[in-house]
Amino acid sequence: MSNKDSEHESMIKTPTQLAVVVVLAFVVPVVLLIMLAQFVLSARKPDAATLSQEAVVARIKPVANVTISEAGSSGGVRSGDEIVKAACAACHTTGAANAPKIGDKGAWGPRIGLGLDGLVKSAIKGKGGMPPRGGLPDLSDYEIARAIVVMTNQSGASFKEPAAPKVAAKK
Ligand code: HEC
Repeated sequence: MSNKDSEHESMIKTPTQLAVVVVLAFVVPVVLLIMLAQFVLSARKPDAATLSQEAVVARIKPVANVTISEAGSSGGVRSGDEIVKAACAACHTTGAANAPKIGDKGAWGPRIGLGLDGLVKSAIKGKGGMPPRGGLPDLSDYEIARAIVVMTNQSGASFKEPAAPKVAAKK
């Protein structure tokens, strides 16, 4: 190699220049990595709204609930008839899961003997194939009682419509 060639090859001519190049070669990639890491971390951080309890519950809500809850979305106290149609008829008109059918006096007779309070209690708790509150957890005790009055009075009972609770007992 001639002396002229080697002068062309290197732009680094002084020890100071060498030191600057070495430091930059080390610092620049590190800074870039830190910036990249921060970018990735900040992009992945979920914001508070998506972590709120409602948002999480809404996201993990089972699909089947969507239909059932529609009955509860009308707001206010529903009439016994509405509740029976929306929540109870599925089993109690078809006899699904061995539910006593509306109008079947033989099936309801012994149950009516429990009295309205007893029937309300077992509907709230659930019984046999019946889930608690007939599968509608947002039904108030009062609404359950009204639905039972409607059902049983078509099946041989003569219960009186329960009095509305003084303070709305809903939820
Ligand atoms: C998933 C089906 C299903 C739904 C929905 C359902 N029931 Fe029932 N229900 C049953 C079955 C099954 C029984 C009989 C349980 C037993 O005696 O083992 C029953 C029994 C009852 C009884 C008699 C309880 C007793 O102590 O003998 C009442 C009262 C009653 N249901 C009210 C309701 C009301 C009110 C609703 C609506 C809010 C409702 N049910 C919705 C299935 C259902």
